[in-house]
Formats: sequence, structure tokens, C-alpha cells
Amino acid sequence: AFEVELAGSGRVLSVPADRTVLQVLEAAGVLVLSSCEEGTCGTCETGVLEGVPDHRDSVLTDAERAEGRSLMVCVSRSRTPRLVLDL
Ligand code: FES
Repeated sequence: AFEVELAGSGRVLSVPADRTVLQVLEAAGVLVLSSCEEGTCGTCETGVLEGVPDHRDSVLTDAERAEGRSLMVCVSRSRTPRLVLDL
């Protein structure tokens, strides 16, 4: 599990191993647009302000992956205990 912090509100949500960031955000009433939910369309791209994403999408380029400034919340996870999202 890891945590996501919403930069705008300071809310911190826990993302368990069996749920996606998108599912956790939706359950918390945080609106993030999504479509494919398979990491292929790019609709759910969300900015990352702190922390290191574990990218599992097929949208970002290698350079964008290395930069780690955004992630697809429908599939990607975190390499650090917390990600601060630009939400
Ligand atoms: Fe398509 Fe996340 S909803 S990449």
C-alpha cells in the first residue's frame, strides 16, 4: 500500500494493493476523468508534485517516465510511500 496526498486539499488517501489510485479517488469523491482504465488512452493523466511513480501505462514516453511528473492513475502506482498529486 501507499498513500496519495491531494495537493489542493491536503487530503491523504491510502491505496491498498488490490485497488487502483483511480478507484480510491473515485470512492473519495474526487473527480478524475477516465476512459480505458487500462493505461492506454491517457485520459486519466494526473500531475505528480512529489514522490516517484511506478509507471504501468503505455502512454508516456521513456523521457516522461523518467521525469515522473505525471502518472496514469488507472494503472500506475508508487515507488515511494507517498505521492503528492496535483489534484
Ligand atoms: Fe485511459 Fe487511464 S483511463 S490511461
